[in-house]
Amino acid sequence: MFCLCVILQFDFNTLIKIGTIELPEFPLLLAPMEDVSDPPFRAVCKDNGADLMYTEFISSEGLIRDAIKSRQKLDIFDYEKPVGIQIFGGDEDSLAMAAKIVDVTNPDLLDINFGCPVKKVALKGAGAGVLKDVDLMVRLTEAVVKSTKLPVTVKTRLGWDENNLNIMEVAERLQDVGIKALAIHGRTRAQMYKGSADWTLIGKVKNNPRITIPIFGNGDIDSPQKAVEYKNRYGVDGVMIGRAAIGYPWIFREIKHYIKTGEILPAPTMEERIAVCKKHLKRSLEWKGPMIGIFEMRRHYTNYLKGLPHIKDYRLKLVTLMDGEEINATLDEIGTKYVGYEFPKTNIELINYHEKCPI
Ligand SMILES: Cc1cc2nc3c(=O)[nH]c(=O)nc-3n(C[C@H](O)[C@H](O)[C@H](O)COP(=O)(O)O)c2cc1C
Repeated sequence: MFCLCVILQFDFNTLIKIGTIELPEFPLLLAPMEDVSDPPFRAVCKDNGADLMYTEFISSEGLIRDAIKSRQKLDIFDYEKPVGIQIFGGDEDSLAMAAKIVDVTNPDLLDINFGCPVKKVALKGAGAGVLKDVDLMVRLTEAVVKSTKLPVTVKTRLGWDENNLNIMEVAERLQDVGIKALAIHGRTRAQMYKGSADWTLIGKVKNNPRITIPIFGNGDIDSPQKAVEYKNRYGVDGVMIGRAAIGYPWIFREIKHYIKTGEILPAPTMEERIAVCKKHLKRSLEWKGPMIGIFEMRRHYTNYLKGLPHIKDYRLKLVTLMDGEEINATLDEIGTKYVGYEFPKTNIELINYHEKCPI
């Protein structure tokens, strides 16, 4: 019975369009995440069903200055498509110039970040800082729309704080200056990552008859059931998933399977976990080189191995080894030791990045 309900509320003939990009009905988006959603991570999310992915956010000033870190974030690959590049900044000219640089790399869309809450961005009048000045937000967006041939999308929050929940005005005005989709994280800037995301206003934006562009909901999706429940309750065109995908890229395929069949897939096996972790490592080494590739991969092992009993020593080994082959061999050893281990099927734990997260 429940399975039937899930199926009936989906019409698989309705494509979601962002400008000329066509996505399947109820697309699953991988959220942009600084220091996480780089090409190696995106590769494993793509394998597991992410329909649209974004780069980490890129400073418009950094791009113009030709900063190496900003430039490297522009790397996108054909197999990732459709993929969007996300930029941020608080100055019209810089954003417009950065948009032109992005154009050359030929992504499918260009996304503007008006949601980043951290002080070094928001208090400089970029990211979520712009939520305090909607006129400026409109001017910045218009400058980008005018300087690129790409579809422009925006990702933002509900407002600056609970007394300034201006997302409805933001959505209408940004649509009027030409954005092609809007992703809304159901928190205010003041909330950072605290509390739980409130999707009520996201639903109101989606159901505003003035709004014709796709509205993607974001915040706290940690299970297939929640993704479908929020789609049905708030009517959003798709969901954007961030933290739940870290160390668990299977979230995308699990949601897709649930939508199609009403059934929850069993947790990925030990074998699959090791295979995906190794692929992630391989891509990391290829893309960043042996040294940085190894360092940057270290933050991911804990997540891939979460739930395994007595794993501490192995984890420690993985984050101290300096040789790719030895790491691979250790991962194989873990795979053999825990072969057949049955991971409990629970909702994914969403880390509160309020203190830890760089953004
Ligand atoms: C480590 C980390 C880095 C993030 N970096 C970005 C970013 O570069 N651009 C952006 O728009 N949002 C960024 N975010 C916010 C996420 O895109 C997303 O809006 C937020 O995590 C809520 O979604 P979730 O509950 O599914 O994680 C980041 C979040 C995390 C946890």
